[in-house]
Amino acid sequence: MSSKKTYSSTLKIENLYKKFIIDSGNVAVLNDINLEVNKNEFICIIGASGCGKSTLLRIIGGLEKEYDGKVYSKDKLINGPGVDRGIIFQESRLFPWLNIEKNVEFGLQEKLNTNIKKDIVKKHLELVGLGKFAKAYPHQLSGGMQQRASIARALVNNPNILLLDEPFSALDAFTRMSMQQEILKIWEKEKTTVILVTHDIDEAVFLADRVVILSSRPGTIKKIVKIDVPRPRKRSDYDYIKIRNEIYNEFFGEFKENIEYYI
Ligand SMILES: Nc1ncnc2c1ncn2[C@@H]1O[C@H](COP(=O)(O)OP(=O)(O)O)[C@@H](O)[C@H]1O
Ligand SMILES: [Mg+2]
Repeated sequence: MSSKKTYSSTLKIENLYKKFIIDSGNVAVLNDINLEVNKNEFICIIGASGCGKSTLLRIIGGLEKEYDGKVYSKDKLINGPGVDRGIIFQESRLFPWLNIEKNVEFGLQEKLNTNIKKDIVKKHLELVGLGKFAKAYPHQLSGGMQQRASIARALVNNPNILLLDEPFSALDAFTRMSMQQEILKIWEKEKTTVILVTHDIDEAVFLADRVVILSSRPGTIKKIVKIDVPRPRKRSDYDYIKIRNEIYNEFFGEFKENIEYYI
């Protein structure tokens, strides 16, 4: 008998509803979210501020447990954080008192011997281009480098899914673009599934296989757009601009009466 387990999808979200209770009143945040993500897919979720993007990612990450509906990681119902999912936030959340090597090692959940641990940490620091900064402390690194270290820390357990919550939004435009290239390289090399939340339409079109557009609160899936533009993508290509404009229109359509916009 084969020990290989087959499963229908890497992530499956079924009829997900989430509300927060504030001052004894209910605030609906996510409304009937259904989504299936395949192995090795790169998914970007976009939506306006406050529409529930972080809440959705926290639910997938197992950090938020109170909700209606079902969320599966490889057919297994999610009921808390797990090594199958690595999560990265907007700010790096590294421990300032630990050097980069120790910060990355901290992510390792398995009990392994010291040499194996060392090798795994070294491999992942090299993967994110921080091989020479193992002994540096977070404050000695730039914002982009700190995010690279966070990515290394999230990858040490070989997760099936990497969850990123607006990971580049605190970075300057130049660093941000180079990190976008970087995350694609890592994704291709590690063959992991990525779910990245952003409010930047251009970032989503540059990175994703599919872009999930959420409406404003309560977040519902407005549309899922397949990005059929071959990689490496060029921001000046006709197909790229066309699809980006379509998403702009889709995204801002609901605000049409309130704001003027030009594409
Ligand atoms: N722990 C919480 N308690 C109460 N309300 C919350 C909590 N977390 C988030 N919210 C509310 O839920 C909504 C969605 O938040 P969030 O998921 O952070 O949105 P986004 O990431 O899209 O900006 C917001 O209105 C926010 O105020
Ligand atoms: Mg957020």
